[in-house]
Amino acid sequence: KILIVDFGSQVTQLIARRVREEGVYSEIVPFQKAEAAFAEMKPKAVILSGGPASVLDADAPKAPMAILQAGVPVLGICYGEQTMAAQLGGTVEGGHHREFGRATIEITDDCALFDGVWQKGGQYDVWMSHGDRVTKLPEGFRGVAKAAGSPIAVIADDSRKFYAMQFHPEVVHTPDGAKILRNFVRKVAGLTGDWTMRAFREEAVEKIRAQVGQGKVICGLSGGVDSAVAAVLIHEAIGDQLTCVFVDHGLLRKDEGKSVVDLFRHHYNIPLVHVDAADTFLGALKGVTDPEQKRKIIGKLFIDVFDAEAKVVGGADFLAQGTLYPDVIESVSFTGGPSVTIKSHHNVGGLPERMNMKLVEPLRELFKDEVRALGRELGLPDVFVGRHPFPGPGLAIRCPGEITSEKLEILRNADAIYIDQIRKAGLYDTIWQAFAVLLPVKTVGVMGDGRTYEYVVGLRAVTSTDGMTADFYAFDMNFLGATATRIINEVKGVNRVVYDITSKPPGTIEWE
Ligand code: XMP
Repeated sequence: KILIVDFGSQVTQLIARRVREEGVYSEIVPFQKAEAAFAEMKPKAVILSGGPASVLDADAPKAPMAILQAGVPVLGICYGEQTMAAQLGGTVEGGHHREFGRATIEITDDCALFDGVWQKGGQYDVWMSHGDRVTKLPEGFRGVAKAAGSPIAVIADDSRKFYAMQFHPEVVHTPDGAKILRNFVRKVAGLTGDWTMRAFREEAVEKIRAQVGQGKVICGLSGGVDSAVAAVLIHEAIGDQLTCVFVDHGLLRKDEGKSVVDLFRHHYNIPLVHVDAADTFLGALKGVTDPEQKRKIIGKLFIDVFDAEAKVVGGADFLAQGTLYPDVIESVSFTGGPSVTIKSHHNVGGLPERMNMKLVEPLRELFKDEVRALGRELGLPDVFVGRHPFPGPGLAIRCPGEITSEKLEILRNADAIYIDQIRKAGLYDTIWQAFAVLLPVKTVGVMGDGRTYEYVVGLRAVTSTDGMTADFYAFDMNFLGATATRIINEVKGVNRVVYDITSKPPGTIEWE
């Protein structure tokens, strides 16, 4: 295990993911709780993350001395490097050269981190983001690389196995970064990488059995990957002590409800209650146009319907949820101030409080890509596991303005054609999320010899790593032209197609 001490960098999660990709389990804790977590977890190595603070500030956050004195290998990244250097007796100064973005470092000496990756004398691209720099080495360290803005860009103390760097190895903009982290995990810390999804699966099954005993578990399916993987895993552990409830709110994509039912009832033979609640949801959404209002109505109704069905099933002791690690990680807050709510995401949030059941959350330690890998390990079909994220409120927020079943039908058909085109072009897995939107405007067109007055479909496709920021996907114009033609020819009610070229920020991925 590796413990990652978070000083508030935007990319700390990436460190955890890179380490796990090496087959070593890692956990993130905020620096304020690092000492206790270190004592409890007894990690084989520690990584200190970057962060926005300056070690020159009076109340600068520090790494616990207990960690630096425990005799385990430590890797410091950016702020992690600076605080390590300062705490161990070196000097850090405010940089006159602030370096942000792409930079070049020159390797001035050999070092275990560079083995088989970077050679002495060579120059390599890295990603920097810092204002301060180390100007005097702490006792026992040597400098092994330099950069224009920092004469000592990487420091090493081989006897204590302490290494630290000014740049960020965890981001893709440092092309060799993953290999440098691998060297730390494998060569420096000597960890072998036996944390695989197969091992996770076996361990998780044991844990679920131990937690649930003879109890009954109820699991809400949304049609998404997380709840499906959680359900299949729990079923493997406790068989028919699990009942799944699939609340179909009628806002799913084309054939989505059917595919969930087929998969669970027929492929896995898992007991499934399928609640067709489309009329209830559409009724409640009648006349509603405000996006937040839509989310609130859908979120509340979802809980009501699920709760009612759970009572029918009766007597469950546990509620299963597909909570993921990013929802569990405590974030480092320097200000403590509230952040603005851009969209109130509904993820069945209020259920546990309302239902007064104990929670089973077998995915709480996993990132999204690990959930997908676990799904494959459990035999879920690739097309299901690899599906783009889909928001809880579904098509309701892809249909700006009032929602009607007629509009939903048009949207479903247009979306299905768009996704089919993307799959045929082999682009589905390169794109983070792609979908159609039905605009609440009609425009004039001409078809055959007649005038048409019909809806506009917007197409959206973005690349992203976590949905927090995104870029529009630059399709070939011929692809877009062919897709527009297919949609207009095959979907009644549409006579115009537009493509959204907004990035996030300033846009959001969804239109509402
Ligand atoms: P935005 O539109 O905020 O979306 O850029 C970021 C990611 O979150 C998804 N999303 C939601 N997911 N409930 C959800 O479960 C919601 O209300 C919701 N709104 C947006 C969106 O699909 C994208 O992946």
